[in-house]
Amino acid sequence: MINPVSHVAAMSPYALAELTAPADKRAISLSQNESLRPPSPLAIAAAAEAVAGAQLYPDPDWRDLRKALADLHDIPAEGILCGNGSMELIASLTQAFADERNAVLAPVHAYPFFRTAARIARARYDTAPEQDGCVVVDALLSAVQPDTCIVFVANPGNPTGTRISRAELVRLRETLRGDILLVIDEAYGEFADHLGEPVFDLVARGDTVILRSFSKAYGLAGMRVGWGLFPSDIAQEVRKVTNPNNISVAGQAAATAALADQIYMRETCEVTAMLRDGFIDRLRRAGFDVPGSFTNFALIRFADAEAAKQVDAALRAESVFLRAQGGAGLPACLRVTIGDAEMLDIAAGLLERWAERARQ
Ligand SMILES: Cc1ncc(COP(=O)(O)O)c(C=O)c1O
Repeated sequence: MINPVSHVAAMSPYALAELTAPADKRAISLSQNESLRPPSPLAIAAAAEAVAGAQLYPDPDWRDLRKALADLHDIPAEGILCGNGSMELIASLTQAFADERNAVLAPVHAYPFFRTAARIARARYDTAPEQDGCVVVDALLSAVQPDTCIVFVANPGNPTGTRISRAELVRLRETLRGDILLVIDEAYGEFADHLGEPVFDLVARGDTVILRSFSKAYGLAGMRVGWGLFPSDIAQEVRKVTNPNNISVAGQAAATAALADQIYMRETCEVTAMLRDGFIDRLRRAGFDVPGSFTNFALIRFADAEAAKQVDAALRAESVFLRAQGGAGLPACLRVTIGDAEMLDIAAGLLERWAERARQ
């Protein structure tokens, strides 16, 4: 018998979306917070061209991509690290800065991969309460323990869809102990950029990391490209535990070209926000409890876990896949990714019918 190490044996597999549709039905996936439209045509062309040189390993220093990111966000290229999705950077950060002697802290309904990353690193995973689906800075500060070494905050959050202000993030950073690394995960940051509250300047303090992703607003989830701005000594340690050839030539080329098409990305954000707000209004009119969202998804809150389970099953039977949220500690909620207008119309119609039946 070949045995895994004990902390891996004790882990459950990461709960991925279950998307199996009957053979005769088209699956409508509203479950993975993917973009409602394909990547920019510039990104598609650049990836295709890059594949012609794919006999060579990719650039391990992501030079073109880093330069494009630095120019766009007015940040230093040397502080940028790129990952095979921001998931790789979350896992690498945790492996480099947490272990069985300390703890990772996050809001109670945070992105579940923070917990997975902590478990892989053997660190304890602590949580702080939220209020009405919102991160509460004072609750995080109160939950800090002497052995807390990393605090993760996704802003906007997944699956809550809420965000906290720059002022609150600055207050969190300024009040946290200096030996605690604050990781601000802005995977959905582009959907809130119009609010004009960038936080990249916090990285210069030396104790804060900002992560972003090409999977959401840039529509490149399948390419697996994430990035972050790191203090140089933190970046040096993180690089030791990431795959040195982590992003394919196609992924790097697509992401670099996508950055050159800001009009397309902004249009994606605008269309997403318009459809999202219309979808939320429609569900509210049908009697659902749906808080506002700063992301490309909406969260529906049901009376209890049983109701959420029933709705999930009813929509699955029609090959419409939402995402259950038990893994994020919200078993009475379902998350709906903002797909295109037709997908949303089908989902909203099914939800309205369920609500009507439930009222009878
Ligand atoms: C908050 C948050 N962080 C990170 C990620 C991972 O993104 P990536 O595709 O860049 O690995 C996600 C994906 O859903 C997310 O919701």
